[in-house]
This record gives sequence, structure tokens and C-alpha cells, in this order.
Amino acid sequence: MKQEDIDKIAAVLDDLKCRTLKEVEEARVKFLGKKGEITALFDEFRNIDRSEKATFGKVLNELKQKAIARIEELKMQAIDDGAAKDTKMDLTLPGDPFELGSRHPVSIVRQEIVDIFRKFGYDVAEGPEIEDDYHVFEALNFPPNHPARDMQDTFFVSVGHLNPLLLRTHTSSVQVRTMEKMDVPIRVICPGRVFRNEAISARAHCIFHQVEGLYIDENVTFADLKQAILLFAREMFGPDTQIRMRPSYFPFTEPSAEVDVSCNICHGKGCNICKGTGWLEILGCGMVDPNVLEASGIDSKRYSGFAFGMGLERIAMLKWRVNDLRHYFENDMRFLHEFASATEV
Ligand code: PHE
Repeated sequence: MKQEDIDKIAAVLDDLKCRTLKEVEEARVKFLGKKGEITALFDEFRNIDRSEKATFGKVLNELKQKAIARIEELKMQAIDDGAAKDTKMDLTLPGDPFELGSRHPVSIVRQEIVDIFRKFGYDVAEGPEIEDDYHVFEALNFPPNHPARDMQDTFFVSVGHLNPLLLRTHTSSVQVRTMEKMDVPIRVICPGRVFRNEAISARAHCIFHQVEGLYIDENVTFADLKQAILLFAREMFGPDTQIRMRPSYFPFTEPSAEVDVSCNICHGKGCNICKGTGWLEILGCGMVDPNVLEASGIDSKRYSGFAFGMGLERIAMLKWRVNDLRHYFENDMRFLHEFASATEV
């Protein structure tokens, strides 16, 4: 075995040039294949004199490592060259378009309602989803242990306090916060997510969305409430829409009413959406109870007001005839794509 032979191979490796991957593979076989030049040197190494083994063992291994590294290097170069020469790639083509999403039906309805009330001069107010008992119940005239609290099964976050934390069951809590902060006259709507401990079905869910409204000033009457709701209903459901009010009960309003709009599908004749009645229930409302005004420091002798609240999923169901509330929360793309055209605003 001669050092000269080894140096010669090392020099050839340094100068080696390959244009294609095929040439790289041929070079690999030439040096490192079963009958390759370096493999042959290893065969020879087995038979050399013991005294020579110490000298050549190290250099031979270094030569082999060098060959492996050089072949790898040539391979990467050949791959890069190949890609650059690939004439099928047209770098002037535009990229793939992103698939655009669409707005969620609940967001679309919320925006519509907000836009209508903005035109009437209402501001938008927001508040926390994790609330305390005071703002969700007590300030709204629900005394402790009042049976009305059972109307809304509540998710409690902490219990055992006088004022436990809970997930708000309505956005009326935002109205309380607004009355605490703002001076009269007040005209706000409060859109937001609310939570009630209900079994999930086609008609009920433990999470849903509301828009509630509050109007307080001197001399506000039930006639103002009725007119505001009528104007809203006509903007929302069409100019021929009729409303009717039915007496109801809420602890925070007196008197209270539930509002129906004339069915915009059968126009009052009766169909399966309005269950043959010609009317669809859309919201609850009433004159703010004087106790509620006083609890937030508003003089109930001088001021009066009205409040109303509606569920967005319910309104979206009526608008698009969706028959199952659960669709709103399942993020099924087939359902969401149905609203793509309604998104163009
Ligand atoms: N807060 C009531 C609810 O969640 C709705 C409502 C608001 C009723 C304002 C009357 C006045 O059901």
C-alpha cells in the first residue's frame, strides 16, 4: 500500500465534477461501490503488514469519510441545478389564491341590528362575560332567593360569597354598568355572548348571543318603546311588518311585554314557521322598573326609560329559516358557506 495512491484518489475527489444525479451515482460506485477504488484499498489493508496498519488505518478512514462527504455535496449541487433548469416551472404565474372565509350568520345579524340602532342614535356598550351577582341580578331587582332567579339557570364561577362570580345570563348587566358610568340621557345597545345552563337541543343552547337596549331620559313612555320596536322591526324584517305586544314579566321592567312580529313568510296566513299563528316572537321589553334606576343612582321621579332584549340566533333562524340552533356552533363548512353571499358588505 502506498501513500501516493491514497493522495491520488483524494486529489481526484477534490476535482470531481458531476452535472447530473446519474453522474454522482456513477462516481459513488467508482469510489465506494463493492468494486470501488476505496473499497479495494480497504481489502488490501486487511493483508498488509501489522506495522503498516497503524499508519494506514487512520488515513484510509479519513479518505472514506472525505469521499462520502464529497459525494453528498455533489448530490445537493446536482439537485439544485436540476430544479433551476426545470423548464416546466413558470415563476411569473400568480400564486394560488387563499380561500376566503365568510362572516358567521350570528355576526351578520348582530351587525344589522347594531347598524339599525346606530341610525336611531344609540351607542354600543360592552361589558364582561364573567360577571358578579350584583350586576346580573341584584341591581336588576332580583332580590336574594327571588324565584325569578330560577328563570335563568346560571353557571357559577365561584360560590359561597355574597356577590359570587358567574357567567352572565343576559347582557342587561352591561346596562347596569352603563347606568353606573354614564349620565342621563342614556341610549345604548349591548350586544354580547350569554350563558345559561340549559340542555342543548334544536331550540336551546347553553351559549347564545343577545342584543339588549336601554333608553333613559325625561318623559320616556311606553308609546316611545312601542314606536322604537316598530321602527326596528320594519328595518329588520321589511316595511310591511306589523308588531303585537303581549303582557309578560321581568323583574327589571314594569310593565313588561313580549313582542311578536308578523310572519314574513306567510304574511299572517299561518305556516309551519309561525306554527299557524301568523306571528313570530322576537324580543322581551318593558319600562325600566324604578327600583333599577334608583339602584344605579338615577332619580326615578325625574327620569324614566325602556329596555328590550333579543336573541340573535333566534332572529337569524327566522331570517334564514334555520331549523336547528346547533348549526350555529358546529362550524360545519357546508353550513357556513351558505352565508358567503350575505357577507358582501
Ligand atoms: N334580559 C331579558 C332576557 O335575557 C330580556 C329583556 C331585556 C327583557 C330588557 C326586558 C327588558 O331574557
